[in-house]
Amino acid sequence: MNITKVTQNDCHTEFYSKARFYDIAFSFKNVPEENQTIIDLYRKHSGNDAKSFLDIAAGPASNAIQMAQRGLKSFALDYSKEMVAYGLEKARAAGVSLTYLQGDMRSFDFTETVDLAAIFMDSTSYLITNEDVVTHFKTVAKCLNKNGLYFLEMSHPRDVFSVGKSTITEWTERDGDVEVSVQWGNDTDVFDSIKQSTNVTAKLKYKTPSKQGEIVDQSNQRCFTFNEIDALVKLSGCFEMIDVVGSLKPGVPFSNEKSSWRMIPILKRI
Ligand SMILES: C[S@@+](CC[C@H](N)C(=O)[O-])C[C@H]1O[C@@H](n2cnc3c(N)ncnc32)[C@H](O)[C@@H]1O
Repeated sequence: MNITKVTQNDCHTEFYSKARFYDIAFSFKNVPEENQTIIDLYRKHSGNDAKSFLDIAAGPASNAIQMAQRGLKSFALDYSKEMVAYGLEKARAAGVSLTYLQGDMRSFDFTETVDLAAIFMDSTSYLITNEDVVTHFKTVAKCLNKNGLYFLEMSHPRDVFSVGKSTITEWTERDGDVEVSVQWGNDTDVFDSIKQSTNVTAKLKYKTPSKQGEIVDQSNQRCFTFNEIDALVKLSGCFEMIDVVGSLKPGVPFSNEKSSWRMIPILKRI
């Protein structure tokens, strides 16, 4: 058995380097539904159909690939070179065109502009400081057409305050004879009340017919309240928050109802 010990880094780079195992572990994502919801919200707010899409911190690029299958010109960006290679291979296998860039979402060069951008699965938690967030907003705004929209799928604030739990932290998924288990966070993780970040331990166990192993990786992840995001959007000067929904299922307003398990601000480029 292959065991990779805890590595302290900026964004769980060891964990995400196992791109195929990540893809299996997160295969519970309902990508067509997520994409349909943001496409419908784009149409509701802009009156037009989105023609191009940028998937930020895209991982296996499942959302970007499905958008390409729907006919949108699709782009993706991720810090992990293994995710970029995996996403490109997945797009090739799906027979669609995808431009996948390797870079840091805090600041990256992008020469095109798109109608629609999104960051899924609470990847905003890797924007640790207020400066990270504002720089990120300015960078993404430059990637958008005028009136372009940016969707941020973030943790629900009730998880931030630990008033109620609405996310699964331990699960197993299978793909044929490959089994992958993830444990996100553990009891010994330390919360920094000044930075509002937790040093999160992420464990990934994999088993294939020819090998098995475990990765244990640690990185800081920040949590946000609604008022903080509102203030940071205003501070950035490049976006206006025009809506916020509670799920990537259709028709779920942001609230403290159980069905509203996410905080998804929708930002319009100004
Ligand atoms: C939870 S995964 C989300 C992947 C994908 N969007 C999904 O929905 O499954 C987080 C992703 O964020 C990427 N990431 C973390 N920090 C980043 C940064 N500073 N710039 C770009 N990508 C980053 C990781 O490499 C990883 O692929």
